[in-house]
Amino acid sequence: MTIDPLAFMTTLENRVGLTSEDKAILKSNAEWGLQVAPEMADHFYAYLGRDAEMNAILNKTEGRIHRLRETFVQWFHEMFTGMDDWGAAYSQRRWHIGVVHVQIGIGPQHVVPAMAVVVHEVGRKLKLDSKPENLQESLGRICMIDLAFIEQAYVEVSASAVLKETGWSAALFKRLITTGAASM
Ligand code: HEM
Repeated sequence: MTIDPLAFMTTLENRVGLTSEDKAILKSNAEWGLQVAPEMADHFYAYLGRDAEMNAILNKTEGRIHRLRETFVQWFHEMFTGMDDWGAAYSQRRWHIGVVHVQIGIGPQHVVPAMAVVVHEVGRKLKLDSKPENLQESLGRICMIDLAFIEQAYVEVSASAVLKETGWSAALFKRLITTGAASM
């Protein structure tokens, strides 16, 4: 483990402004979240399937897409329930999701537009179902927190793998990156 997921969660909550009011509105709509999750999964995997590179990843192994639909529904519902009030279990789960994507080799450039699809489609569904605007805002915040976990995993996992393999100090690694970036 390279970061403390719960500490990272707390930082993100403050940064994004996820308040107890947001959590209350998400929780009170958890049933709706579960109901619409399969439809959101349809949009999500239709979007990924339209990209040849992502489609190949999705269908690489037998049953992967089927398993993914189930994990998507679970992931989507967890944004509403918060699992353990957006605590240690929630943070650990979000960190793990990030690590899985790094392991599979899905570039971060795929993850941001994929989350944008979720935000867009859930926004449309909220309007169709006449849900309040503040639910859309709360969902937007938790989606951005979940996205930040996945994106941060790329940096943390890559850096920690290099440090482990080379025995370099974190300070040396940081200096190499800064020097390298300056010459680009
Ligand atoms: C909003 C962005 C995304 C979310 C929230 C998300 C969610 C998830 C979740 C919850 C899992 C299960 C992790 C576990 O095993 O514990 C997973 C795995 C996976 N995701 Fe994503 N994902 C996202 C983006 C993507 C993208 C862009 C791709 C590109 C193809 C992708 C492909 C996969 C694959 C291949 C797995 C592993 C499936 C397996 O178990 O074989 N995901 N994702």
